Amino acid sequence: MKKYIINGGKKLKGETGISGSKNVVLKAVIAACLTDEEVELSNIPKISDFYTLLDLVKRIGATVRLVDHRVAIKLSKIKENSIPIEAGAKIRTSSMLLSPLLLRAHSAVIPNPGGCRIGARPIDWHIKGLEKMGARIKYNSRDGYFYATVNGLVGTTFRFKKNTHTGTETLILAGVCAQGRTVLENAAQEPEIDDLIKLLNAMGARIRRENPRSIIIDGVRKLHGAHYRIMQDRNELVTFALASALTGGGIVIKNAGLTHVSSFLEKFKEVGGAWEEKDSTVRFYLKSRVFPTDIITSSYPGFMTDWQGPWAVLMTQADGTSTIHETIYENRFGYIEELNKMGAEMSLYNPKVEHPLSFYNFNYDHVNRRYKHAVKIFGKTPLHNAVLAMSDLRAGATLVLSALIAKGESIIFGIEHLDRGYENFDKRLKALGANIKVVEDTVGIT
Ligand code: EPZ
Repeated sequence: MKKYIINGGKKLKGETGISGSKNVVLKAVIAACLTDEEVELSNIPKISDFYTLLDLVKRIGATVRLVDHRVAIKLSKIKENSIPIEAGAKIRTSSMLLSPLLLRAHSAVIPNPGGCRIGARPIDWHIKGLEKMGARIKYNSRDGYFYATVNGLVGTTFRFKKNTHTGTETLILAGVCAQGRTVLENAAQEPEIDDLIKLLNAMGARIRRENPRSIIIDGVRKLHGAHYRIMQDRNELVTFALASALTGGGIVIKNAGLTHVSSFLEKFKEVGGAWEEKDSTVRFYLKSRVFPTDIITSSYPGFMTDWQGPWAVLMTQADGTSTIHETIYENRFGYIEELNKMGAEMSLYNPKVEHPLSFYNFNYDHVNRRYKHAVKIFGKTPLHNAVLAMSDLRAGATLVLSALIAKGESIIFGIEHLDRGYENFDKRLKALGANIKVVEDTVGIT
């Protein structure tokens, strides 16, 4: 088990790039399995979730060539149609292999990806959509697998109950070679979905976004190979933007596209942040003090749920009381206790919500009523060092940001979570002047 040792309080300075998007590359690898021709992807992030998924597509029969940040995938023939349950537990997107397996093998055995620390995260809306396209899917609660078969996927009109990013993508992947037209209503509009659509259309699919919430897919007989460059990672951009603002404003981010982070920019400006764009770089900094504000996370184009943890660190430095109301996941405040150990003053509570069943994107029921869905952050609190443990990927980034500004030496366990979504995070921070090192922990904590 590895841990970070971080001595905080250093001003970070220098240039960094932004990796390709984790939440595009995983689906692009799955899209490559829809054809028997080679698909080449560039600007891929070398993160552990990507390698885990590559192992899975090799298991079902793909050949994979990886050179630096480019990968070529060719699945000439499906050799295996089942995905082991430990893979499903490791990365949720493994359940999206349902679409290529149903299309090319007419059967699939897929693990229920199950929840992680941020919530139940079922895939019931994915399954309902595939069943409407003709798949017969049975879930066996004894072994945790979905058993799916289909004669041939048939296009249909499917309305999503609520916003689902990967649910929308799963049905797009199923519709591209289905017989006839598929219309997705109340479809998600996260920009990563449009990047996947661009890749699929480059492979010969016929997909268009009719209006922000509806997507039309006209099935084609088969897809062909393509070369495609993955868009940059919005979450990484916001993480480094906040790292810069919190550590003196000296980080220059290269090739940063700001198109898809306007809800972050709006809030950042409101609390006293600013950014300077020069050529194709951007530097985020604080003009002076940090003002408090209130955030309600929501699906695109709202303030993204993945940003709320790193944002909370900034709010600990605000003069006054801020709030974050998390509406996408039922349990995404795993970092609160850890930050309070460092001197933050954060308390969880449940705001009054008129119609929780429709207000929350997760299934609001008696089970998750036990969770608190909002946090009050009383600033300004100087942070000091502590021994910390990461609960999930974005909470991990949150703890690193807080350790970078905390006085003294912090130890953070569970950094494998970070490797899932940030390429060489510690090396890049070190290159910016952070006093951070990775140590193999013999004793560790459970
Ligand atoms: C994607 O997760 C991202 N992951 C998440 O990023 C991101 O936070 C999320 O979208 C929201 O933008 C990937 O793309 C791999 P959802 P996804 O389906 O698709 C409930 C990160 O850190 N729901 O939009 O799983 C669900 O439980 C990750 O990179 C159902 O109830 O999110 C959740 O509460 C974290 N039934 C809410 O809807 C379903 O069938 C939104 O889920 C599907 C979803």
